[in-house]
Amino acid sequence: MGKNFIGLDTEKTAKLADSLNDLLANYQIFYMNVRGYHWNIKGNDFFELHVKFEELYDDLLLKIDEIAERVLTLGHRPAHAYSTYIERSEVPEKRDVSDGKEAMENIVDSFAKLIGKQRELLSLAGDAEDEGTVALMSDYISQQEKTVWMYRSYLGH
Ligand SMILES: [Fe+2]
Repeated sequence: MGKNFIGLDTEKTAKLADSLNDLLANYQIFYMNVRGYHWNIKGNDFFELHVKFEELYDDLLLKIDEIAERVLTLGHRPAHAYSTYIERSEVPEKRDVSDGKEAMENIVDSFAKLIGKQRELLSLAGDAEDEGTVALMSDYISQQEKTVWMYRSYLGH
């Protein structure tokens, strides 16, 4: 089995990079959805949620860049076309959401999808002895599990 320039199995790394691109697509659609919530939200919670959604999309943008640069670090090319994101994302595009509760529910659902994908990646990366990706996924999972708890509390779940 061949090793790449950072000592990782070439074949396993190609699979990992592909899964990271899949994750990237989901983040990009989620990111744009949250920008839409930030812009379109209406009602009594406007000021609170407008700010909250900005905090969220800023964080998603940081992670988008980290995921893309992890793909590059592994020697592959990050997906960078919206058409690819649409094709690969399981997080659906959301349009014209102005209700705060609906936006919060969508966010909780999207996080559940991302966390599931990141758990799969964690196990793939572990199998490939790719500690860099393991650490990244592990950070995202624990942060986002906490975020889900807080968003669900807000929703009264
Ligand atoms: Fe803004």
